[in-house]
Amino acid sequence: MYHLLCVKIILTILFLKICHKNVFSLHPINRTEKLISYTIPEKRGLKKAFGYDEDTYLNFTELTTKYNYPSEEHTVTTEDGYILTIFRILAKCNAPSRHYPVLLMHGVLDSSDGWIIAGSEIGIGFVLARNCYDVWAANHRGNSYSRKHVRFDANIDPEYWDYTFDEHGNYDLPATVDYVLQNTGKAKINFVGHSQGTTNFYVMNSLKPQYNEMINLSIHLAPVAWLKNTESIISIIAAQGSGLIKQFLSDIGIREFLGKNHIIHVAFEALCQLVPDEICGTMLALTVGYVQGTINPKRISVVFGHVLNGVSIKNADHFGQLIRSGKFQRYDEGISGNLKRYGRQHPANYNLSLVTAPVVLVSAKSDWLSSVKDVKILCSKLPNLLENYEIPLAYWSHHNHLWDDNIKEYLFPKMFEYLNKYN
Ligand SMILES: *[C@@H]1O[C@H](CO)[C@@H](O)[C@H](O)[C@H]1NC(C)=O
Ligand SMILES: *[C@@H]1O[C@H](CO)[C@@H](O)[C@H](O)[C@H]1NC(C)=O
Ligand SMILES: *[C@@H]1O[C@H](CO)[C@@H](O)[C@H](O)[C@H]1NC(C)=O
Ligand SMILES: *[C@@H]1O[C@H](CO)[C@@H](O)[C@H](O)[C@H]1NC(C)=O
Repeated sequence: MYHLLCVKIILTILFLKICHKNVFSLHPINRTEKLISYTIPEKRGLKKAFGYDEDTYLNFTELTTKYNYPSEEHTVTTEDGYILTIFRILAKCNAPSRHYPVLLMHGVLDSSDGWIIAGSEIGIGFVLARNCYDVWAANHRGNSYSRKHVRFDANIDPEYWDYTFDEHGNYDLPATVDYVLQNTGKAKINFVGHSQGTTNFYVMNSLKPQYNEMINLSIHLAPVAWLKNTESIISIIAAQGSGLIKQFLSDIGIREFLGKNHIIHVAFEALCQLVPDEICGTMLALTVGYVQGTINPKRISVVFGHVLNGVSIKNADHFGQLIRSGKFQRYDEGISGNLKRYGRQHPANYNLSLVTAPVVLVSAKSDWLSSVKDVKILCSKLPNLLENYEIPLAYWSHHNHLWDDNIKEYLFPKMFEYLNKYN
């Protein structure tokens, strides 16, 4: 049934694309014009009146304040002008922190909030701080905390959105690592990434191998590199048309998809207050194989106030290319674009032999996106793999690593086994 629905959506988009070309070609859209924006201003009073759980709309700083974990807000500017926000949760323990700082990198459509919205008991950011770690939660370009640029306006300039996870790895993550090291005076960091956050890590350490030296240990939850065997139905179907969809959306002036406070996000946020498992649980089930009911529905309501935090259309197309090609390679700009950008006709593969920093992978049987088969390919390429730990529960999927109550038993012991050993 869902397959059929997706096919219909794709056909509709293709149909519109054809109409757009043929029927409206007399008035070609001036591509330098303003972007279309669907952003709805946040109305907290209204949310409060409708009985939303407060954590749904509190931001990072407000959440850490509420749960009594002192935090700081930092900004860093990347080499190519993007201004990013990094949050820091100070170690909450009596002794001074003796560990390397931990840098957290979120996944696609997520932000730093993903590490704390599970609450003070199991939110990974809070748990690390309680265990005496100095926690830094990054935000890549384009999410609601990192929408500024020295020249471009994210709401107006299409150039702002001309990036994929390649730029997250090549610019955002290195700038963030540099900043954390400089600010803390430490020689290395520990890295914990989720989903695309791990992709960013492979990109950084292969394109800028000097960063391997700055990583003491890295833990990768739901790692994403090869997507040859992905079982995510929506991703597979969308991937088939991702180039066309990108072209179509860019023609009508859309460069950002599923942004925070865009119409779709606001609708999900509202519906998921009422029927979290039916609506948002189903959405997660379709995209990543989430088994409904395994994350507390109240938490799902809170999560959907924070996620759907924007992806550039070009980034979505880059993932589509990975699915279609079965390769883990740089963005394919087309032959002339590739010659201009890379000096070669076809994009290069990311060379995982260069990712020499120690890596622990944490994977899961029911994760459709980061499938067990694709994680195996990744394992075979990583030169310094310490372990691929597969969560021993059949239902575990992509987001259970962040928000499932069982992470206390199934993730934290493994995480701290390595963090403690490596410090
Ligand atoms: C498109 O719009 C911009 C700004 O409004 C204008 O400067 C430019 O000349 C237009 N280009 C075309 C091809 O109409
Ligand atoms: C978080 O919310 C507070 C209070 O509304 C606001 O002052 C602050 O600027 C917000 N922080 C960010 C990073 O958006
Ligand atoms: C990580 O840090 C520990 C403690 O300082 C050290 O013994 C170990 O060699 C480091 N490992 C790497 C890969 O830097
Ligand atoms: C990948 O990196 C390794 C290690 O430096 C190197 O030996 C190999 O030639 C590289 N592969 C490609 C395809 O560039």
